[in-house]
Amino acid sequence: MTQTQAFDLVFFGGTGDLAMRKLLPAMYYRHRESRDTQGWRIIACGRHAMSREEYINFVNEHCRKFIPQNDYHDNAWFSFTSALDYASIDATDAASFATLGALLGTPGRVRVFYLSTAASLFAPICENLASAGLVTPLSRVVLEKPLGTDLQSSHRINEQVGAIFPERQIFRIDHYLGKETVQNLIALRFGNAIFEPLWNRAWIRDVQITLAEQVGVESRGDYYDRSGALRDMVQNHLLQLLCIVAMEPPSSIDPDAVRDEKLKVLRSLRPFTPEDVRNKIVRGQYRAGAMSGKPVPGYLEEQNIPADSHTETYVALKAELDSWRWARVPFFLRTGKRLAERVAEIVVNFRTLPHAILPSSGGADAANQLVIRLQPDEWVRLYMNVKVPGAEMRVRRVHLDLDFAQTFKIRQWDAYERLLMDVIQDNLTLFMRRDELNAAWRWIDPIHAAWSEQTEAPKLYTAGTWGPTAASALIARDGLSWQEEM
Ligand code: BG6
Repeated sequence: MTQTQAFDLVFFGGTGDLAMRKLLPAMYYRHRESRDTQGWRIIACGRHAMSREEYINFVNEHCRKFIPQNDYHDNAWFSFTSALDYASIDATDAASFATLGALLGTPGRVRVFYLSTAASLFAPICENLASAGLVTPLSRVVLEKPLGTDLQSSHRINEQVGAIFPERQIFRIDHYLGKETVQNLIALRFGNAIFEPLWNRAWIRDVQITLAEQVGVESRGDYYDRSGALRDMVQNHLLQLLCIVAMEPPSSIDPDAVRDEKLKVLRSLRPFTPEDVRNKIVRGQYRAGAMSGKPVPGYLEEQNIPADSHTETYVALKAELDSWRWARVPFFLRTGKRLAERVAEIVVNFRTLPHAILPSSGGADAANQLVIRLQPDEWVRLYMNVKVPGAEMRVRRVHLDLDFAQTFKIRQWDAYERLLMDVIQDNLTLFMRRDELNAAWRWIDPIHAAWSEQTEAPKLYTAGTWGPTAASALIARDGLSWQEEM
């Protein structure tokens, strides 16, 4: 990565969970590993009245624990935190923005305003930044999800932010695109000759994308109950991964070349009719169960969740793309909280052989498979058939393994680390354009509309399992099974 120019990085929501868990740790690593951090400024903004020293103490208490012991060095941490500043700001009070103005460097420096606040504050913050004269041609604004709750609300926010910042300066972040393995999928598809000829309906039978979490809603009940898994994970992370798998090769890695291709994928998603919503989508909600041998409460018993909530904590669906490349290739997507394992992976199942001549080389269990594992570990495996040693000509499926930790003995960057540096260096390739977001909402909205007409509650699943059994039935209707059931 090239040497980074001077910048002011401003975190709205500077005392929040994301800042403590992800944003500040990401900048700690960059600070620790960069040769020249002279021109770097990080200013946290929050409602609480705090001095700079009090903020640094707050960071010591709430953020340091997210740096693994091996990566923590006293000197590096001290020099990182000593460079932090804090501005106490009420996002809706224009006058309070003068405090921030006084801390910012000259207008010739890059300014990044990272809004990790409720989306309802995006417009007031942008308007107040403008009225305080803080928006310069070198300013960028980063918008965290969720950007609205449907097409209409997202349109309103985009209009309001767009009245202050041109699209060129708006970075809509989806941290899944910053994950190393997702970028590796781009490298794999477009940096090798062998995949592209096979990457279509003739050779691929189905694609499965799983984002399974073990955590429940934790302290986020209030947000989560208004969101649900469809808005929280499918509308953004799952659809973005689907785009990377399904898009046509872009003409270059330039932001608009990539985003144009992703947009085409989103626009080719077949819309769901109310009947499809019943037949091709499973929504679930966890009930009490056990995780790693310990009892955990059900969703309805979690903090700030109404006792009669129908909010889904699990979604599995069959998406279809109306395009030549992907005609009749189902994309099965699923995500849920309180599932059996924490795993995020993309599985590309190739078709079985047109004609098998070797014993045990013909069935579905012998078909080639490409598995891209995003977490908890990061690897790509290509499953192929090879001969079992011995006299007989018998084949068995084994995998070629590309384990990133083994192959590259360097620390993997965290997604936020990568994406924050992209913003600072003005690289929009991994950020969503407004038309992409609109297309995603356009596909999601009819699902919510159909659910709101249904009286049926989400299907219950026990915490610690793989979700409602209806999800297995969904995929079985295509003669398939989920990866962990194979
Ligand atoms: C966030 C969702 O966008 O992604 C959370 O709001 C979810 O509900 C999180 O837990 C998952 O991210 P990761 O990187 O931990 O898989």
